Amino acid sequence: SNGAARAGRSRNIIEKMEESDKNCVVFYGSQTGTAEDYASRLAKEGHSRFGLTTMVADLEDYDYDNLDKFPDDKLAVFVLATYGEGEPTDNAVEFYEFFGSDDISFSEGGSADDKPLANLKYVAFGLGNNTYEHYNSMVRNVDKYLTKLGATRLGAAGEGDDGAGTMEEDFLAWKEPMWVAVTEKMGLEEREAVYEPVFEITEKPELDADADEVYLGEPNKNHLEGAQKGPFNANNPFIAPIAESSELFTAKDRNCLHMEIDISGSKLSYTTGDHIAIWPTNPGKEVDRFLTIIGLAPKRHTVIAVKGLDSTAKVPFPSPTTYDAAVRYHMEICAPISRQFVSTIAQFAPNEEVKAEMTKLGSEKEYFHEKVADRNLNLAQLLEILSNSEPWEKIPFSLMIEGLLKIQPRYYSISSSSLVQKDKISITAVVESISRPGAPHIVKGVTTNYLLALKQKQHGEPDPDPHGLNYSITGPRNKYDGIHVPVHVRHSNFKLPSDPSKPIIMVGPGTGVAPFRAFVQERAAQAKAGQAVGKTVLFFGCRNKAEDFLYQHEWEEYKKDLGDNFVLHTAFSRDGPKKVYVQHQIEEWADELNKLLDQKAYFYVCGDAANMAREVNTLLGKIIAKHRNVSDAKGEEIVKAMRASNQYQEDVWS
Ligand code: FAD
Ligand code: 2AM
Repeated sequence: SNGAARAGRSRNIIEKMEESDKNCVVFYGSQTGTAEDYASRLAKEGHSRFGLTTMVADLEDYDYDNLDKFPDDKLAVFVLATYGEGEPTDNAVEFYEFFGSDDISFSEGGSADDKPLANLKYVAFGLGNNTYEHYNSMVRNVDKYLTKLGATRLGAAGEGDDGAGTMEEDFLAWKEPMWVAVTEKMGLEEREAVYEPVFEITEKPELDADADEVYLGEPNKNHLEGAQKGPFNANNPFIAPIAESSELFTAKDRNCLHMEIDISGSKLSYTTGDHIAIWPTNPGKEVDRFLTIIGLAPKRHTVIAVKGLDSTAKVPFPSPTTYDAAVRYHMEICAPISRQFVSTIAQFAPNEEVKAEMTKLGSEKEYFHEKVADRNLNLAQLLEILSNSEPWEKIPFSLMIEGLLKIQPRYYSISSSSLVQKDKISITAVVESISRPGAPHIVKGVTTNYLLALKQKQHGEPDPDPHGLNYSITGPRNKYDGIHVPVHVRHSNFKLPSDPSKPIIMVGPGTGVAPFRAFVQERAAQAKAGQAVGKTVLFFGCRNKAEDFLYQHEWEEYKKDLGDNFVLHTAFSRDGPKKVYVQHQIEEWADELNKLLDQKAYFYVCGDAANMAREVNTLLGKIIAKHRNVSDAKGEEIVKAMRASNQYQEDVWS
């Protein structure tokens, strides 16, 4: 089920490094693309500044039982994100299981006590989020395992914190001393960094943009040929019809979408509590801005073939394509930019003055934050402002492919029950739009605004968006009838008790209610079918009863089936003189809640990871402590134990 095996490539990293003449491999375990981006930046920097011959490697593409033969004049770098509750990213599961296994064994035999990795020199950086319990556990554990097996780490293991919003700066601060340690140990000299493109871009004037073999957003060959073929997964999304879409809020200035995504005939399946991944398209307005500022707008529909200049370089989208399609469907052009990338681009500025300013932004942290990050600028917006709209024609397109993330799918907690509708997946998505004082542009979430545009198209509504994002809705070829979106399903451990008669308590303010609509829908159907269903308690919070009370009328329908076993507690934060949050309602219901917990009720929290989920966790500990007459610390421990036994489950995001 992995990339290398599918493509019939070798899974032997040592062989791969020998044959492509590399002395440094940068492995990544990445879920949302950031770790992958850091890996490719380290590989480039190692080469351009220190003359290492580097390659980037997806952890799932290789085997690890031969790392005992890793040559001692080479270097392995591990860039490892921790996902959710201390889990490895999807592409690092096998790797992590291999090193975490009690009876680990390597190609040359011998036990862990023989220090089989004595030859391995490595460097490690972790990406984590301190709002989660198991902060950076991937890098911490892998570092422990490798050390125990005799490997030598060069420099300190770094940790980036997304929770504090310092990921990028943590990474930049970690890598300088790391390079010092690496150069010392490996006897390397720093040299004047020169940019070498990773990809070769060849324009194909002989091909029309609409020629059959040209990719215009299709994720792979089957899609190009108009016959999508399963299995559908993260490498091969299903282009799913949107069966229905509607607005859930009555507020004029905010939107929350309910969508029904039709997966029938795809062989995709889900169970209640899973996530669906949705692949967005960039807004036309930002695609235009981007192509214009790098001087490619006149050639946007020119066909290009993109090829790695090195056998280890993976082109992040199918080729041949066009500049327009590569940018629109595959490059994350709206996201915040890294300071390091700003530094790299400076050399391609249209004039010396702009170059000096760009260099300053790249090297001065505070200045960068004030001028770029705090003003929410994306790359093209920054370039436009700096050069006063003069095009940056010297920037190689390869550098853009290397420096920008490839477009990532966004995840949504499925808000339907697989028991009730196995072929239709519901989502509940709040449309993101952020304007900051002093920022020249409003940041519009890519996926949610794309979905909003799809909904408007489906209903024949005029685009009420004064910013004219101008999404290309059907794609240039329009192979599939109707309104579609590329999706795949990601299975999760966020699950109802298998016995429906067990009581459950759910806490889900805002869109955190999504999976709980699925839970209640499922239990209502079970009750209707005559099954014994236990107490089903939901704490929901929103701003106003009249504006953003999600699924207000559906709850009444479910109540008809569940009767008194369904209890809904609401907290409207902006209806009265004082803020009321779900925590207040939980506190008020503490006695009832404790009774249910005594009956081993499952406790679920979904939604905001940064504040709400943490506060609810702490509060629950206190409530339990008071009821059982123990210390707050003991209460906290009890909640921890509940987590360990899956009695307390979270589905949270920040
Ligand atoms: P993006 O374009 O990804 O932007 C996201 C945010 O990044 C913006 O709001 C802004 O704060 C920031 N940003 C973007 N560009 C810039 C810039 N240039 N400068 C500064 N800041 C910037 N959401 C739901 O609504 N419902 C759900 O059920 C749901 N379930 C989820 C489940 C999981 C497991 C996870 C991980 C997330 C879930 N989310 C859910 C969140 C969802 O995945 C998306 O993150 C969210 O919808 C925003 O996506 P977007 O593409 O619209 O915004
Ligand atoms: P507010 O925006 O009025 O502060 C859904 O977003 C609901 O969650 C809103 O009513 C919001 O209230 C509320 N909310 C904001 N911060 C919260 C927190 N830390 N804990 C619980 N609810 C919160």
